[in-house]
Amino acid sequence: MDTKEFADKARQAANAVLFDDERPLQGDREVRDIRIDEDAHVLTVTIAVESANDIDARVDMEDAMRQAVASAVPDVDVRILVLAIDGVDEPKASCAHDHKSDIPPKKAIPGVKHVYLVCSAKGGVGKSTVALNTALALKNEGRRVALLDLDLYGPSIPALVGSDLPPIVVGNLIMPPEIHGLSVLSIGFMIEKDQPLMWRGPMVSGVINQLLWEVDWSGHDALVIDMPPGTGDTYLSILQSVEIDAAVVVTTPSELALADVKRGVGVFAPYGVPIAGVVENMATYNWEGRDAVLDLLNAVHTTDDDSKKALERARKILDTTKAIRIFGNRTADLCKKLGLDLITSIPLDIALQNCNDAGTPYMLNPAKPAIREAFANIAHFLIRREEALVK
Ligand SMILES: Nc1ncnc2c1ncn2[C@@H]1O[C@H](COP(=O)(O)OP(=O)(O)OP(=O)(O)O)[C@@H](O)[C@H]1O
Ligand SMILES: [Mg+2]
Repeated sequence: MDTKEFADKARQAANAVLFDDERPLQGDREVRDIRIDEDAHVLTVTIAVESANDIDARVDMEDAMRQAVASAVPDVDVRILVLAIDGVDEPKASCAHDHKSDIPPKKAIPGVKHVYLVCSAKGGVGKSTVALNTALALKNEGRRVALLDLDLYGPSIPALVGSDLPPIVVGNLIMPPEIHGLSVLSIGFMIEKDQPLMWRGPMVSGVINQLLWEVDWSGHDALVIDMPPGTGDTYLSILQSVEIDAAVVVTTPSELALADVKRGVGVFAPYGVPIAGVVENMATYNWEGRDAVLDLLNAVHTTDDDSKKALERARKILDTTKAIRIFGNRTADLCKKLGLDLITSIPLDIALQNCNDAGTPYMLNPAKPAIREAFANIAHFLIRREEALVK
């Protein structure tokens, strides 16, 4: 099948879902773009639907469309990008990127040099852990760093930094409190602890606007934003309105999390936000009994050749427990396929969990080199990226 024929089939399948009256979508809808990357075997369909549509309806349609297009054009990886816009026929602003005509102009956060999103489509993969410890690793490099928790439904930064004091307000501006040398802000500082957080759609962008624009963020080299799981309203709101330097995508090496990486990375391109790379979390496991067993083996003295060989074999086996890759190299393989940099791998380690639970961030006193280096790698990667862009 030639490329045009392929694209036509994909368009037909996508249109059948877009105009399926069973789907409660309001307003105009259209297929904006169909792109085929023949080398990577990826077909990307970009559609536009009105932002007034419920996010669940959009996600539901996205899933249905992926299935429909995949059965119409087999043997490619199908990605659907949904642009939520205000009136398909009335683009709001002109622009330099593809699709930018659908997006209102973005604003830079005053006084902040670089803005990074730490995100993933999947929950519980370690976004907050990575956001917090990356912020501290950047601080360790001499940067002035702020950390903003934009997980409005489940803010975890207050627990991770061990503080929930409300910020003070000076004039019209909220002043983010300084905690562990970072300027930190979370909705969790401003609401009753344990209060269920149920935001209606429009309230989400209202709260996000407040946390971005009614706060004194000035004087920072970097603002690290801890994003909620998913690709929902918070993402649309921030990607459309804020100048972002790059997104750092966090994943675990499980098939389910990686499937969400594939699905999630397409969210950024339509808004011109680059993906800095992928951080693989809980990828390796270091068995700590190894050194003690090695000491025992080294204390055995034998002149018998068979016993010597057996001891050598045992040492080699032990060596493989240094950083056990429980799930293999799936993340690296996926990054290669998607053309993304794998920034680093963070080991699965109870010490990180304990620090999180105690509210004392790991990078304040990072005892284990493998964990310390992983977070330092992310900071170095971002700094090198900034330097390369200046040149
Ligand atoms: N490398 C690790 N080793 C051990 N535990 C970890 C590691 N990374 C994260 N955790 C633990 O996994 C849990 C989830 O981490 P975290 O809250 O950072 O994920 P998240 O992606 O922000 O979750 P959510 O989607 O709910 O916001 C926490 O209990 C955290 O302490
Ligand atoms: Mg989180």
